[in-house]
Parts: sequence; structure tokens; C-alpha cells
Amino acid sequence: MPTLLIAGANRGIGLGLARAAAARGDTVIATARDPDRATDLTALGVEIHALDVTSDASVASLADVLSGRAIDALIVNSGVYGPDQSAAALTDFDGFVQTLAVNTIGPLRVVHALLPALRRATGGARVLLVSSQMGSMAYAKSNAIAYRTSKAALNKVAQGLATDLARERIAVAALHPGWVRTDMGGPHADLSVEESVGGILGVLDRMTPTDGPRFWNHDGRGLAW
Ligand SMILES: NC(=O)c1ccc[n+]([C@@H]2O[C@H](COP(=O)([O-])OP(=O)(O)OC[C@H]3O[C@@H](n4cnc5c(N)ncnc54)[C@H](OP(=O)(O)O)[C@@H]3O)[C@@H](O)[C@H]2O)c1
Repeated sequence: MPTLLIAGANRGIGLGLARAAAARGDTVIATARDPDRATDLTALGVEIHALDVTSDASVASLADVLSGRAIDALIVNSGVYGPDQSAAALTDFDGFVQTLAVNTIGPLRVVHALLPALRRATGGARVLLVSSQMGSMAYAKSNAIAYRTSKAALNKVAQGLATDLARERIAVAALHPGWVRTDMGGPHADLSVEESVGGILGVLDRMTPTDGPRFWNHDGRGLAW
């Protein structure tokens, strides 16, 4: 049974990933900022640890708890939408910085801390960073500019990690989960959580280090960076 760690798994897409991965027999390690309040996740009976991706101490503590173990796959799903202002209107610069801290630096911090565990995976390891098509440089839209910028930068992080880690048989990619009915996506989004996570796990299973850096759609199509 492969071991899959999902960062940000107490609600939304992350919770759906934990549920689907546990149902298919993966050994799931799930994280939540506040495990005591993660009742839906607790009900799954999976291993749960506290993790705030913006905190060096929190990420180090997770790596410490997992010390000596192998992680075959990692999905960094945590994310925030940030201030909902367009580029010309944005004045909440602290909010912009916080969005970058969660969406861009956070995933890099988590991958760094868990590299020893990923290197222990016997068949090579796979890392998916949950990004968004809203970060694609192929679109000129400007609303939610903090979120868009943070995901564009996350894509660059994914590309860099994929380039650096392929030689260690660790595949890294960015992924757009679709527009999904969650707290972030809202009730009118295209996809149910179940539809999105089914696709995401399919992409995860097919990843190899020889893919090169990729930005995947949830349905397995490649997207423009
Ligand atoms: N829903 C969509 O349509 C859509 C589209 C494109 C991309 N995405 C991306 O998909 C991912 C999941 O989205 P979602 O719709 O499921 O969002 P969501 O329902 O708002 O859930 C966000 C998750 O991220 C966690 N999180 C936030 N800040 C964190 C931090 N500092 N450290 C650790 N965890 C943190 C949240 O934990 P708390 O409960 O503690 O806040 C929660 O578990 C995000 O990266 C999002 O950008 C979503």
C-alpha cells in the first residue's frame, strides 16, 4: 500500500482526496491546521497531524514525527484565495504577502522538509502541488491578482523542483483541480469534489520523473503555464 501525505485535508478537495485515497487502500497521512476541529477527517480513521504550511516550526515538527518513514506520494493541497481585488485596485499588500506565504512558499517549505521521506520511497516518489488555472500566464485576467500571482509563482516552484528532483526519481508537477464546489470554489462551480479528486488521483498515479515539468489539468490534459 503506497503512503500518500495530503497537506490541507480537513475540508474541500483535500478532505475528498483523503476519503478517496483511503477508500482505495492507500495509507493516508492527512494534515490539518487544527486537528481537534477536523471532525470530518477524523471520521475517516486516517493518521492526522497538525500542519500550518506558513510556519517553519510546524513543518519541522511534521518532518520530525515522520522521521525514518517513507512517503510515496505527496499532495500539497492547502491554499487561500486572498484579497479579491484586481491588479489596479489592490491595496491590501499584507493580504498579498500572506497569500504568497500560503500558496507559494508554503508548498516549497513542505517539500523541502519531507524530501528525506520522499527519498526513502522505494519506487521513486510523486509530488503534486495543487495550483490553479487562474495562475496561467496564458490568461490576461486580473481579478484576484494576489491569488493568480501566487499560483503562477507556485507553477514556477513546481517546474524548478521537477527539474531538480527528476534525477532522484522524484516526479513533481503542478495541477489544476478544476472549478470545484468547495468553500473556495462556491456552490455554482463545475465539478463535485468527488469528480475532481478522482481525476487528481489518476494524474498522480500516472506521473513519472521522465515527464519533465508539467502543469496538469485534473482530467489528465496538459495546461499552458
Ligand atoms: N475549489 C476550486 O474551484 C479550486 C480551483 C482551482 C484551484 N483550487 C486549489 O485547490 C486547493 C484546495 O482548494 P479548496 O477549494 O478545497 O479550498 P478550501 O475548501 O478553502 O480548503 C482550503 C484548505 O487549505 C487549508 N489551508 C489554508 N491555509 C493553510 C495553511 N496556512 N496551512 C495549512 N493548510 C492551510 C485549509 O485549512 P483550514 O480549514 O484550517 O483553513 C483547508 O484545508 C487550493 O490550493 C486551491 O487554491 C481550488
